[in-house]
Amino acid sequence: MKTFKIVLGWLLAGLLLIQFIRIDVPEPPKAKPGDEIQAPPKVMAILKRSCYDCHSNHTRWPWYSNIAPISFEVRDHVRSGRQWLNFSIWNRYDAAKKRKLYKDIAKSIDWKMPPPDYMWIHKNARLSPEDRQRIKTWADEEAQKITAPESR
Ligand code: HEC
Repeated sequence: MKTFKIVLGWLLAGLLLIQFIRIDVPEPPKAKPGDEIQAPPKVMAILKRSCYDCHSNHTRWPWYSNIAPISFEVRDHVRSGRQWLNFSIWNRYDAAKKRKLYKDIAKSIDWKMPPPDYMWIHKNARLSPEDRQRIKTWADEEAQKITAPESR
């Protein structure tokens, strides 16, 4: 029992200590209204519901995003999610980048995005097979409309 209490004490102390480690997500780039992606309303609704927390300037920070060590994971998701793809500044990307991203979206929507650990907590972000198909079809079509040279 005594060892248990000591271990518990250290654990709690450790948890308290790591609260001082702050992971800062850089301020997102300022976006003008015309910078945001445009898509049919049903597609937009899905993007906003299931992607915008990590891929836009409109992150809804949950309360636990301030509590270490969960904050490390959440903030890292948002930071790197925005770096890859930020729907709020979509129209600043050049044609080649848009085309590549549309293709990536069509691919990632099969299973990679939204990340499973995120959907585990955000049940309303879960996508039905129809939702996924809708995103895939839309992204594939948009990629084809762009005739820029492939960028890799
Ligand atoms: C919980 C945060 C989060 C959510 C929600 C999320 N993403 Fe991501 N996304 C990331 C992160 C982090 C990366 C960076 C690369 C990686 O980890 O694979 C990424 C990368 C991507 C990429 C580019 C690279 C790749 O691996 O294909 C695409 C495309 C993408 N996400 C699309 C989406 C779409 C579409 C949605 C909504 C249906 C979505 N994401 C929802 C966090 C998120």
